[in-house]
Amino acid sequence: MMIPAGAAIIIFAAAFHRDEGKFPFADRFEPEIWLDGRAHKEPSLVPFSGGPAECPGKNVVLLTTTTLLAITTSGSSSRSADGTFC
Ligand code: HEM
Repeated sequence: MMIPAGAAIIIFAAAFHRDEGKFPFADRFEPEIWLDGRAHKEPSLVPFSGGPAECPGKNVVLLTTTTLLAITTSGSSSRSADGTFC
């Protein structure tokens, strides 16, 4: 396939991320794929995109969500200066 110079293209990751023919875990909650190496074997699995267009918020998101997950699953809680829980 030839793509003309200057053409705009859209890569709709949600479409192939949910393709069960490509990813057996496509429609399952299976976070283990990020720990056991399966996700890293799939270069087309790009929740934050990749290359020059990669999401600049990626590390903020991973830090925030893992911190929140650690707090909520550890049984402890964290309180901000104004007294609200986070
Ligand atoms: C779960 C959370 C998030 C996901 C899954 C996500 C995913 C993405 C993806 C896939 C892109 C690339 C879009 C493209 O191909 O053009 C993108 C771009 C971008 N994201 Fe995120 N994002 C998340 C959160 C955030 C946050 C928290 C911020 C800011 C603090 C952020 C800032 C941006 C910006 C500014 C771009 C555009 C980058 C550019 O065009 O150069 N994102 N994000």
